[in-house]
Amino acid sequence: MTRQTALIIDDEPDIRELLVLTLTRMGLTVETAATVREAHERLKEHQYDLCFTDMRLPDGNGQDLVSHITRHYPQLPVAMMTAFGNVDAAVQALKNGAFDFVSKPVDLSVLRRLVQTALKLGEAKKAEAAVSNERLLGDSEPMEQVRQTIAKVARSQAPVFICGESGTGKELVARMVHDLGPRAAGPFVPVNCGAIPSELMESEFFGHRKGSFTGASADKDGLFQAASGGTLFLDEVADLPMHMQVKLLRVIQEKAVRPVGFNGEIPIDVRILSATHKDLQKLVEMGSFRQDLFYRINVIEVRVPPLRERAEDIFLLAEHTLDRIAPEWGIDRPQLSDSARRALRQYGFPGNVRELENILERAVAMCENNVIEVADLRLPQQRPEVANLGMPAATLAPAVPGAVPVLAKPATATVAAPVDASGDLENYIDNLQREAIMKALQETRYNKTKAAQVLGITFRALRYKLKKLGID
Ligand SMILES: Nc1ncnc2c1ncn2[C@@H]1O[C@H](COP(=O)(O)OP(=O)(O)OP(=O)(O)O)[C@@H](O)[C@H]1O
Ligand SMILES: [Mg+2]
Repeated sequence: MTRQTALIIDDEPDIRELLVLTLTRMGLTVETAATVREAHERLKEHQYDLCFTDMRLPDGNGQDLVSHITRHYPQLPVAMMTAFGNVDAAVQALKNGAFDFVSKPVDLSVLRRLVQTALKLGEAKKAEAAVSNERLLGDSEPMEQVRQTIAKVARSQAPVFICGESGTGKELVARMVHDLGPRAAGPFVPVNCGAIPSELMESEFFGHRKGSFTGASADKDGLFQAASGGTLFLDEVADLPMHMQVKLLRVIQEKAVRPVGFNGEIPIDVRILSATHKDLQKLVEMGSFRQDLFYRINVIEVRVPPLRERAEDIFLLAEHTLDRIAPEWGIDRPQLSDSARRALRQYGFPGNVRELENILERAVAMCENNVIEVADLRLPQQRPEVANLGMPAATLAPAVPGAVPVLAKPATATVAAPVDASGDLENYIDNLQREAIMKALQETRYNKTKAAQVLGITFRALRYKLKKLGID
C-alpha cells in the first residue's frame, strides 16, 4: 500500500513542525504550505489524502481555502484549525465543507483520532456501494434528494439536525448517515432525550465516578463514552431540559466530558446527530431551547418530507410492510384490493410512514381471506384541519369495533386524547386493543371463539392479535 499524504497549511513554523512530527509518526507523508498561494500550488501538483488549514494566513483566509478545496477537490477531507472556543469559525468551516475542525492549542490525542477518521473516509466510500440504501424506501423525487443529501453529509463530521414530522423516518435517516460514513464500524448510540429523568441526565450522558452520589456504586461510562469512535444520536432533542442544554453545548464545543464526581476532562470522539418533530426554531424564539445550542447542532439540516408530499412512495412502502408482516405473523402474504389501494393513495397520512405501517398491521388482522379491503383499513375521515395538527392517533378509529369508544368524537377527542399520540402511536393502539380483547375474553370465560364474536372479528384475526400483543 502506498503511503498516504497530508498537506498542512499554516504560517507558524512551530505548528507545522508539530503536525509534521505527529502525522509522520502515524505513517503519513507530510507536505506543508505557509500561504494560500503555496497551498494552491501544492494542491495542483499532488493528490492528497488529508488536509489541515489554519484560519488566518498571510495572503488570505482559511475559510475560502476550505470552500475552494470542497469545490475543486471534493474527495479530499479538509479540517480547519481554529482558535480555542471560536465556535463561529468552526461552524462556518463545517458549513463551507470542512469535515471537522481542531482547536488550538492542538490536543495530540484529538488530532490523532481525527486523522484516523479522515483516512477512513476513503474506505467508507468503497463500503458505500455495499450498504444498500434499501432500508430507506421510496423512489419519489423528494426521497431521492434525501438519499443524496445523506450520502453527502455522511462523509462530514459536522453535526446534522434531522427535522420532519412524526413517523417520517428520521431515525432511519440518522442510521444511514452513520452507516455510510467513516464511523460505520464504530457504535451508533441513539438516545431519546425525552425519556431520561432530568436528575439522571448528567450521569447518563457523561458518566459518573463511584460514590459521586447515592447509588453510584461503581464507575460508569456515559453515553458519550459509549458512542466513542461512532455516532451519538440525540433523538427528541427538543425535550432536553435547560440545564442539560448548557452542559451539552460545552461538551460539543470542547470535545471533552467531565463525568459526575470526576475532576478532569475526558476527551471524546463522537459525531452528533439530532432530531425532533418539533419546530426547534420556534422553541428557540419562545426561549425554551438555547439559540447557541441550536446553532451548534444545526450545522447541516436534513428535512425528511412527509408522506403526503411523496404519495408515489405509498405502494412501495405498503407492499414492503406486507412482505415484512407475513413471515412475522406466520401467515400467507396478504394482498391489497384495488379499492384499498386507491383509498391509501388518497389518504393524507398525518402520522406518515409509521401510521401507514399501523394501518396495515391492523388491516391484516381484520381482513378475510388475506385480501385487504377498504373497510379493513379503517381510514379516519380526513379533516384537513386535524391533519395539519399532526395528531395521528386521535384521528384513528378504535382498532377493535365496538370497543373503547373514547375517540368516538374525533373533534373533541383530539384535545382529550390520553397520550401524546405523536411519539407513541403504536403503543397507544396496542393498549386499546389489549384492553378490549382482555375484556372480551373475561366476559366469555376465555372462550376465544365467543370472544372473537363479541369483538366482531374472525377467530383467526383474534389469534393474530393475541400473538402479536403477547397475550397468553
Ligand atoms: N423511507 C422509509 N422506508 C422504509 N421504512 C420507513 C421509511 N420511513 C419510515 N419508515 C418506517 O416508519 C417507522 C417510523 O420511522 P422513524 O421511527 O424513523 O420515524 P421518526 O421520524 O423518527 O418518527 P418520530 O418523530 O415519531 O420519532 C419505522 O418503522 C421506519 O422503519
Ligand atoms: Mg424518532
